[in-house]
Amino acid sequence: MRAVLLKKTGKVDDLEKNLVIEDILKPDIQDDEVLIKIRYASLNHRDLWITKGLYSGIKLPVVLGSDCSGIIEDKGKNVNEFKIGDEVIVNPSINWGENELYQGKNFKILGLPDNGTLEEYISIEKSKVFKKPVHLGLMQASAIPLAGLTAFRATVVKGEVKKEKRILITGIGGGVSTFALLFAVNYGADVYVTSGDKNKINKAIGLGAKDGVNYKNENWDTELMEKNKNGFDLIIDGTGGETISKCLNLINPGGRIVNYGATTGNTSNFEIRKIFWKQVSLFGTTMGSDRDFKNMLEFIEDKKITPVADKIFEFENICDAFIRMDKSEQLGKIIVKIS
Ligand SMILES: NC(=O)c1ccc[n+]([C@@H]2O[C@H](COP(=O)([O-])OP(=O)(O)OC[C@H]3O[C@@H](n4cnc5c(N)ncnc54)[C@H](OP(=O)(O)O)[C@@H]3O)[C@@H](O)[C@H]2O)c1
Repeated sequence: MRAVLLKKTGKVDDLEKNLVIEDILKPDIQDDEVLIKIRYASLNHRDLWITKGLYSGIKLPVVLGSDCSGIIEDKGKNVNEFKIGDEVIVNPSINWGENELYQGKNFKILGLPDNGTLEEYISIEKSKVFKKPVHLGLMQASAIPLAGLTAFRATVVKGEVKKEKRILITGIGGGVSTFALLFAVNYGADVYVTSGDKNKINKAIGLGAKDGVNYKNENWDTELMEKNKNGFDLIIDGTGGETISKCLNLINPGGRIVNYGATTGNTSNFEIRKIFWKQVSLFGTTMGSDRDFKNMLEFIEDKKITPVADKIFEFENICDAFIRMDKSEQLGKIIVKIS
């Protein structure tokens, strides 16, 4: 079967050499596993970090990819929950562990260290497999797993989003942030966004955001306060860097900041005084538990939420898909058609 193998890490300019399509052995199935013929995969920033060597525990070669949708083609003798032909998605959060508050020592994410979803077939343990929401096609469903789970835990579980609360979501072009927007809007919250691209702000307004500002303007925090004079009760951020210190100006007393990533790195300008004086709660979050995944999927089905799919790339053009993400050109999830 064909698979996208990362053979070497390095600069995005070297992707064509480092990320190659090769034939590898089709996986066998164990008694508790299903064999899925993958139709679509979608990218996460994690995949890009790994190609650059900016991720811990890299082992090469590896098939990247945490997200997929596909059709069950075979199943082990202990699998009664699914039948051949079922259309499914996969929870990429493996071995979360017992504690809902944080992942255990054996936690891992599909697509490193184990081979991921940028391949034609995957065999996976049945508890990680879920029927795709009926209202979505396989392409849209492939956008859900990692970003949907992360956004659900950040916005709903840690953020405790509520109707009419004022929420800021930074960097709205991202896969996680577009899910956070959809979830928050469906809770009836008033959502504001930032982006480096005016068109993306307009598209976010089309998806239910109230307004937004361009983070490339130095005083974007003051611009945002002019648009929303009441400040923010909750901020969902995957950027880190200087953004998180500006968030301390925007958060209301008693508010919550939930951080799930550090796309722009660390910050040298974090005013601790604003945390304690404003009685701010700062939450960190990573992906989510099996319970979070189940609740996220039920919420998507209940509210008939359609993920924001960006552009669809053919398998052969996989490097172009990574380059699009590297340039932050996307709004939502970049999709790869596998078969
Ligand atoms: N903890 C976890 O479990 C977890 C899970 C998923 C992702 N992450 C991390 O979260 C981050 C986002 O992941 P993703 O897959 O959603 O990435 P993505 O789809 O590549 O989105 C990244 C977005 O970051 C925004 N951005 C870039 N520079 C910015 C700045 N200076 N200020 C504000 N926003 C900026 C851009 O938004 P615009 O296009 O609107 O400008 C871009 O679209 C990554 O660092 C990733 O590693 C963590």
